[in-house]
Amino acid sequence: MPTADLFSIPDDDVVRHRAEELRRQLQHHGHRYYVLDAPEIPDAEYDRLFRELQAIEAAHPDWVMPDSPTQRVGGKPLDQFASVRHAVPMLSIRTETDTESSGALNFDARVRKELGLASDAPPVEYVAELKFDGLAMNLRYQQGVLVQAATRGDGETGEDVTQNIRTIGQIPLRLPAGAPPILEVRGEVYMRRDDFERLNETQRQRIAAGAKGEKTFVNPRNAAAGAVRQLDPAIAAQRPLSFFAYGVGELTSEEQGGPAWETHFELLQALKAWGMPVAEQVRVVQGASELVAYHQRIAATRDQLSYDIDGVVYKVNSLALQRALGFVTREPRWAVAHKFAAQEQFTTVQAIEVQVGRTGKLTPVAKLAPVFVGGVTVTNATLHNELEARRKDVRVGDTVIVRRAGDVIPEVVAALPEKRVAGAQSFTMPTHCPVCGSAALREEGEADHRCTGGLFCAAQRKQAILHFAQRRAVEVEGLGEKLVDQLVDSGVVNTLPDLYRLGFMHLASMERMAEKSAKNILDALEKSKETTLPRFLFGLGVRHVGESTAKALARHFGQLDRIMQASEDQLSQVADVGPVVAHSLRTFFDQAHNVEVVEQLRACGVHWPEGEPSATAMQPLAGKTFVLTGTLPTLSREQARDRLEAAGAKVAGSVSKKTHYVVAGAEAGSKLDKAQELGVAVLDEAGLLQLLSAQSS
Ligand code: IVH
Repeated sequence: MPTADLFSIPDDDVVRHRAEELRRQLQHHGHRYYVLDAPEIPDAEYDRLFRELQAIEAAHPDWVMPDSPTQRVGGKPLDQFASVRHAVPMLSIRTETDTESSGALNFDARVRKELGLASDAPPVEYVAELKFDGLAMNLRYQQGVLVQAATRGDGETGEDVTQNIRTIGQIPLRLPAGAPPILEVRGEVYMRRDDFERLNETQRQRIAAGAKGEKTFVNPRNAAAGAVRQLDPAIAAQRPLSFFAYGVGELTSEEQGGPAWETHFELLQALKAWGMPVAEQVRVVQGASELVAYHQRIAATRDQLSYDIDGVVYKVNSLALQRALGFVTREPRWAVAHKFAAQEQFTTVQAIEVQVGRTGKLTPVAKLAPVFVGGVTVTNATLHNELEARRKDVRVGDTVIVRRAGDVIPEVVAALPEKRVAGAQSFTMPTHCPVCGSAALREEGEADHRCTGGLFCAAQRKQAILHFAQRRAVEVEGLGEKLVDQLVDSGVVNTLPDLYRLGFMHLASMERMAEKSAKNILDALEKSKETTLPRFLFGLGVRHVGESTAKALARHFGQLDRIMQASEDQLSQVADVGPVVAHSLRTFFDQAHNVEVVEQLRACGVHWPEGEPSATAMQPLAGKTFVLTGTLPTLSREQARDRLEAAGAKVAGSVSKKTHYVVAGAEAGSKLDKAQELGVAVLDEAGLLQLLSAQSS
């Protein structure tokens, strides 16, 4: 404690003041961090303050108050939640299920009618908000201290989940001076998408490690609901929840000194000023047309949010008009939820097909009863591999949830086992390729099954041809999927060289092939014969050999024959090539039929300029070892590594006497110290770039 020295025991008052100061600081920095996302101090400093307060409170347990930042997690597991009768019922709102603009127009028309407004009266002012996809929560503050958090339940009575809600860093345990003596804040507890993904990843690891009773969650809403209703607050604390405020419940009246808000927007601003998270998308808008514009704008940008919403909410802004409008049954007349087209839908699985890719990879694909979701009709969803298919336990006949958000590929989120038809079998990967009948195997340590048929397999052949003909490889313009299907299925093309043996008659006899197109394809084939070594090599489709590896190989060896003859060791000398790639190349060129394909392609006239091996010429830093540390001003760690490796250098993880250079950027730590201790040369980014350019010129 700063005020104490070794010889004086600090008196209680001093310590008590320090504790209060620490609570104040921790609350301030917690709000900066959790709500504003703009911390003013490093995490380590926050932790230090937190530990200091914990130490004081441990020595003086009677000073601990429930609103102390140390008290967020601390309660004991419960047997069940206590019931809470809401002081003001928690109502729900009407939902406009019509996702078109008429949803907003209908609401505005009803409001105007109820208020008896003439058609030429000015537009009604509304607040437009997001509709968060989580759970409604009532937070009760008395004298500024959070005393209770309750779920909505049936609207009259909810459950007391205070212990769990206290673990949410975004929710203040104490409000600043000036908040009303009684204040109930209403809002939504939810889980951010990234927090949800992380949580599920942890759950998967737990399940894989054999933990009992653990499960993964279907969506963020589900995970949030599970966390809120978790009886053990220690577990709830590990489930990262967030909160947005959108209204109030019981409140000290104006007569008794409570707030004198005139609009809903003012109310939200006040909550925000008291430290409550309020979504930044809240807008005051005029009339129906601006409601429609808001709905459309949010619908178009919802995927950029870090959390799920399922629509927007419109509320009459004036609180006086809200009172005038009142309620019908249990719903306010002054608010409505206007939904978006759903990103998740139910459908059924009609079949699970297994598709075969270029490298023989077998992919199970769920064939779905067509369903409109996320703006498109979805009929297929990949199940990735056997493991994934089994993890989700999707079976033919199952009712499943399909999700399509933004441009993301549609996926089956989960199957609903409770709706499973009797006798549905779990999916197993076929033991043989569904296209060619060759054995399908899964290698040790790999997730994918592969057809072993190689180019004997028509599916692989088609994919291999498309791969060879693509723009980034030798480029045969106009040779698309449909034509390749026809050429392979009719037996005209079996291997890559067959492409160059195609005559006009072959092509012109294909379905829907005009003479002109046949001629164009022949021209494109002719043109593709003049290529480059990297394009040709990439086009062969050797497993693990992508464009950049093909370039590195071409640069290193200069000539195809040298690559075809190189040993795995020699191949591994290339900057981009590790043992897996080297092995894959060797295996490919050890197969006589692959060498035959290359020879025939050359015989058909496919050619490229060959050069001298540039192995040594282009590798000026061969034999030199570098270590990278800290953040460089312009190059990322990967870019720096790539540049060094391309120049032949080795990039190591730790500094030793064998290190030639340490490249240090901002906040370089112990590696820089070590370099200085050992007298290893240290470069900054400019020095590195200079070295690289000097060596290559
Ligand atoms: S206002 C009396 N505003 O949607 C009005 N509700 O039935 C009370 N919700 O489960 C609700 N976002 O939890 C309101 N910006 C928002 C909301 C919102 C989500 C939820 C609410 C309730 C349902 C409405």
